Amino acid sequence: MKDEQVRELLYQALETEIGGVQIYTTALRCAENEELKEEWEEYLEQTKNHVTIMEDVLTKLDLDPNEETPGRKVVRHIGESLVESMEMALQEGQPGAAQLVACEAVVLAETKDHQNWHLIGEVAKKVKGVVSTSSPRPMSSARKASRMASVPFATPIAWVVCES
Ligand SMILES: [Fe+2]
Repeated sequence: MKDEQVRELLYQALETEIGGVQIYTTALRCAENEELKEEWEEYLEQTKNHVTIMEDVLTKLDLDPNEETPGRKVVRHIGESLVESMEMALQEGQPGAAQLVACEAVVLAETKDHQNWHLIGEVAKKVKGVVSTSSPRPMSSARKASRMASVPFATPIAWVVCES
């Protein structure tokens, strides 16, 4: 992977986490199931922590966390669309419907998040750095609540330690 692609990946990862905070915040307004609410509150906190981690990683690499990149714009747009889809469902006011839309939004957001961290792990193996990840836990209450084929999975906890 070229340096430029690694930079882009890191910026996209940051933007994914920023969007994740918005997505979980909105998803919590859609959640009716108590267990689901508890889990999403936990993942919201984790995602806020991931924003800080990504900002730190960029800063340590002498990259400005506020820099705009083409990929970042796309990631932001998708995140905003997921938030909008939940707002639409909330406005319809049908019991349970917004929760289902929120489950789907969380699955989509976490899929991108998961891909980012996987790629960051691959990159870190090739550069000076240490990465450890824990495998995501299944979200059993989400599965129960959503009764969907695809269910949200937990945010993987990954750490990138950059050596200068
Ligand atoms: Fe995350």
